[in-house]
Amino acid sequence: MLFVWDQSYDTGIEEIDRDHRGLVKLINDLYEAMQDGSGGALLLPIFSALKHYTETHFDREERFIVDCDAPDQERHFQEHKQMMAKLADLESRHRQGEAAISLQTLTFLRDWLKNHICIVDQAVADHVREKSPG
Ligand SMILES: [Fe+2]
Ligand SMILES: [Fe+2]
Repeated sequence: MLFVWDQSYDTGIEEIDRDHRGLVKLINDLYEAMQDGSGGALLLPIFSALKHYTETHFDREERFIVDCDAPDQERHFQEHKQMMAKLADLESRHRQGEAAISLQTLTFLRDWLKNHICIVDQAVADHVREKSPG
């Protein structure tokens, strides 16, 4: 397993946590498909699912952020955009057979997700808690 979930990553916002766990699972699936040498055939659908799931999650989360009037929205959305661009680039390169999904790429995705969830998304959760204490 590449990414082991820790309870401390939970934001306490149910729908967002569900998405985050789903994303972590997809990254682990991708890692395992890569490890057992399944190659492109299995990697590509998982990769597409990861891209689709990320997009769906960002949409949902951004709507939530706007609704609860969280701070630093632009910077947060910018991080989402950068991640989508990175995934789109990786997918097209992979489709063209230019680049295999390397361990380095997976490590990058994992670290990005972990940092983003722990810092940027947690800040949204802090804001929600401050607004409605208890
Ligand atoms: Fe986010
Ligand atoms: Fe998120």
